[in-house]
Formats: sequence, C-alpha cells, structure tokens
Amino acid sequence: MMTAPHPSILDERDRGGPAQSLLSVNALVKHFPVKGSGFFGRGGVVRAVDGVSFEIRKGETLGVVGESGCGKSTTARLLMHLIQPDRGEIIFDGEKVGIDLPLSEYRRQVQMVFQDSYASLNPRLTIEDSITFGPRIHGMAETAARAKAHDLLARVGLDPSRFAGRYPHELSGGQRQRVNIARALALDPRLLILDEAVSALDKSVEAQVLNLLQDLKADFGLTYMFISHDLNVVRFMVDRVMVMYLGTVAELGDGEAVFAAPSHPYTAALLASMPKMDPAERTIEAPLTGDPPNPINPPSGCRFHPRCKLAEPVCASILPPLTPSAAGTSQAACLALVPQSGHSHADRLAMPPLDPESEPMPEASA
Ligand SMILES: Nc1ncnc2c1ncn2[C@@H]1O[C@H](COP(=O)(O)OP(=O)(O)OP(=O)(O)O)[C@@H](O)[C@H]1O
Ligand code: SF4
Ligand SMILES: [Mg+2]
Repeated sequence: MMTAPHPSILDERDRGGPAQSLLSVNALVKHFPVKGSGFFGRGGVVRAVDGVSFEIRKGETLGVVGESGCGKSTTARLLMHLIQPDRGEIIFDGEKVGIDLPLSEYRRQVQMVFQDSYASLNPRLTIEDSITFGPRIHGMAETAARAKAHDLLARVGLDPSRFAGRYPHELSGGQRQRVNIARALALDPRLLILDEAVSALDKSVEAQVLNLLQDLKADFGLTYMFISHDLNVVRFMVDRVMVMYLGTVAELGDGEAVFAAPSHPYTAALLASMPKMDPAERTIEAPLTGDPPNPINPPSGCRFHPRCKLAEPVCASILPPLTPSAAGTSQAACLALVPQSGHSHADRLAMPPLDPESEPMPEASA
C-alpha cells in the first residue's frame, strides 16, 4: 500500500521536503546490564537493541514486527527518549536530536500510544484534564486547551459532553485508548509511535480503532511507527515493514512485497506462523518453533542460525549485513543474499523460494 504525497509534507515545520526522511536511526544500541547472568554469576548485558538502523518516511506507516523480546518496545522507548541509547544517533527531519533539534521540541513532535490504556492515564485526572495537561505545560491558555481537548475528543469518536468529565475507570478499554490517542495528538505531533496500541482490545473494537487511526493519519498529516505482534493487522496498516530478530533488523522493505515474498528465512517463518483466515491454508504445526535464543548471549554470526532451515557453517561466523533482495523490494540480513559470502545460495540470482508451509523450524538451542 504505497502512499501518494502526504499532507505531512505541507506541514510548516517540514524542513527537508518529501525526499528527506522524517526520522532516521543510525546504528542504535541499547544494552541493559543484568546481575548475575553472565559466566560464573557475573553480570551480563541484554542486547535489547544491537545496531539498528532504519528510516521512517514522511507520511508513511512503518510496521515493526518480531517475536516477543526482539527489541521493538526498546526501540520505541529510545526514539521517545524515555531511555538513553548507548550508541547511535536519531535524526528528525534532517536535524540531530539533542544537538541541532532541542529535546523539548523533538518531544512535542513525537508522541507514543502504549498497549495498556489504563496505566497510560492518571486515574485522578478527568479525561479533559488528561488531554489538556500537555498543551497547558507547553504554555497554551486554559480556555484554548479545553476547546482543543473537546475538539480532539470529538475527533476520536467520544462525545465531549458525555466523556470530558469522566475518570479513566469509567471508560471501556476501547474508549480509554481513544482518549490516549487524543492525548497524544494534543501536542500536534508529526510522528506517532503506536506500541501494541490495539493489541489489548476486542477484535471488533480493535477494527474500529484501526480505522480511526487511518482517518486521523490522513486528517492530521501524521506519520506512524506501528508496532504489533499481529501480522494480519500489520499487513492491513503499513506501507513498509521492519522485521526484528534478537535486537537486530532481519528484513526491511515494502510491506506488500515482504508479505507476498519474504527475503529473510525468519520473515518467511514468521509469516507462516500467521493464523490463516482460510481453513484450507492453515498448517497443522507452526513452522517457527521454540523461543528465540537468549539475548544475553546471542548466537554468533547470524543470530537466526540455530533455527534457520538454510543455515550453513558460514552462518555461525559472519554477521550478515542488510542486503538488497533479488526483487529489490526489501533488504534482508542473510548471507544467502550476499555475493561471495560463502553461503551456497549466495551467487545464485535469488534465494530458493522460501516455502513457509514446509517443515517446522528447529527448536532454538539456547
Ligand atoms: N529495563 C530493562 N532491563 C533489562 N532488560 C530489559 C529491560 N527492558 C527490556 N529488556 C529486555 O530487552 C529485550 C527486548 O525487550 P523489548 O521490551 O524491547 O521487547 P519487545 O520486542 O517489545 O517484546 P514484546 O513483543 O514482548 O513487547 C528483552 O529481552 C527484555 O527482557
Ligand atoms: S545468514 Fe544463514 S542462518 Fe542467517 S538467515 Fe541467512 S541462511 Fe539463515
Ligand atoms: Mg514490547
């Protein structure tokens, strides 16, 4: 689903025009120290995000997928500056965050909606006060902030006359998440990071909120980073998709192309694990089995090698760089795509078709 030129590029805050990414992330690293998990009980580190680079284009929705613990939320928290990276840089519309672009200005332009709708709201504040809080802190007059809150409540489908004075516990999960979206929009952000924002909702409510998000994106000229474990939802929502595995990027590219013909064996396995709507397409056993290996001591070389059907000895010693796929619609970190890498498929025109319906993946050894 490719987008036409988007209203976001008409934003007066836009600096570099449509060709410049809204956000670029270069070699981002975040390791968390953990006590007593290393050799002989010494402390180790969880390599939650381990050299991640990507861009988010103006007006697009970038989906982020991968198994639990692969670093999706840590990446989001790094982008929000809720935690500090160990290394790497974040560039927003051409300006280095914290250097060219003051953090306070960046924080207005990037907002986040979390999975837990209740924990994100202060239980002692009314819905109206929750929404006006951000604009008031940034100097907006009270009457204007209240008018804005009422307008946003209406935009997210909640009648302000019924909902403005309520408290979070007086709302359903779907209604609370609508409030969280309104609250995120109150500072006129350009980028919205949605971290499993609809995952806790019932399917019918989820569909309504997804449609709302699509409408708001068009109306406000927003750009989305959409994190979800639900690949069916990601397929519906995104323009491009980033597949993460153990703190690294496994594949990054056009959403439709990646879903139709994945270039990384991990993406293929992940897609094969998707619940199929058509019973005839359902597999008896999921092709991706076993938990991902331990991020404290990840496998050498390609981190996916203990579970990969195409693994060869070279895969345990060389870390594959992101490499353009044969079709050119994505980049994948797989030695089978890297000419002269030593992988037996590397010098063929394309990898063998990744048949996600075939044998299950081996269990992870760690
Ligand atoms: N504050 C922390 N201290 C130590 N380890 C952490 C911390 N935060 C995250 N981690 C670890 O970093 C890794 C990545 O976690 P993260 O929450 O980013 O995963 P995720 O992809 O969002 O998973 P999920 O799909 O379950 O939300 C995990 O191994 C997690 O246990
Ligand atoms: S580099 Fe090797 S182990 Fe890694 S995904 Fe490619 S074939 Fe599989
Ligand atoms: Mg998460």
